[in-house]
Amino acid sequence: MKVRKAVIPAAGLGTRFLPITKSVPKELLPILDRPMLQYVIEEAAEAGIEEVIIITSRGKESISSYFQPMPSLEQHLAESGAMELLAKVKHATSLAKVSFVIQEQPLGLGHAVLTAKEAVGNEPFVVILPDDIIAHAPGALSQMLAVSDQFNAGVVAVEPTPWELVHNYGVVDATQQLDRVHRIHRLVEKPPREEAPSNLTVVGRYILPAEIFECLERTPPGAKNEIQLTDGMALLMETHELYAYEFLGTRYDGGTPLGLLRASLEFGLAQVETRDTIKAMIKALPQS
Ligand code: G1P
Repeated sequence: MKVRKAVIPAAGLGTRFLPITKSVPKELLPILDRPMLQYVIEEAAEAGIEEVIIITSRGKESISSYFQPMPSLEQHLAESGAMELLAKVKHATSLAKVSFVIQEQPLGLGHAVLTAKEAVGNEPFVVILPDDIIAHAPGALSQMLAVSDQFNAGVVAVEPTPWELVHNYGVVDATQQLDRVHRIHRLVEKPPREEAPSNLTVVGRYILPAEIFECLERTPPGAKNEIQLTDGMALLMETHELYAYEFLGTRYDGGTPLGLLRASLEFGLAQVETRDTIKAMIKALPQS
């Protein structure tokens, strides 16, 4: 069945970006020249996703403004001949049909995904965590959808992580099936290092069947006393196969100021228009 919808949880407080996040949602902070949220929506659009459901919380209304067309601005840019800018402005609002669901209480990632139950309906969908920015062509979601088609099952993105950091992530216990593809037996959210079944950790891209919602409804609070998506998937595995896929590409941590800086520099170095300027800026930095 074609996967048409993406759920993007964006209801968090963005504490690691305080005080900016008192007034600007973290998801609208830029990498180089556009909000990090736009990068993940571009990745979804490239993978054929037509509808994006963003989970937000009260006070983050500027996210929806960003995805509304602004005719007065577009007219002004057209009249002043700023066609490149006009194209950029229009591009942001034309990527997918975007809708919003409010998560009233911060009860965890699993709970956030559950709030999209009605908007998703009875079809498979993807979940994208906008903090995890992945650079690659084709995008990580396109790669995962091919694996999901091949195995006719849900797929979770994973990457090998240094053992001393695995306690920050969801961790899979899995058996390799093909190059980069593993069949999952067990999933644990943020285990202490000595209890982690492997160092293959979950990255924020998931392809899931609609049955995950019924599992999330019976998922009790877990790590950090929150309803965890990982625990919901563990319940789903009682009836459905799940695969872990080691995507091709580099993951940037958009959840921290330094992660965003690294992404901005590397994306800028990857673009012809900005490459030489950024190289010169780096060269000119004081050496100590
Ligand atoms: C979430 C998930 C975790 C996953 C991580 C990836 O954790 O709960 O399983 O490994 O995203 O970024 P969070 O970063 O919200 O604590």
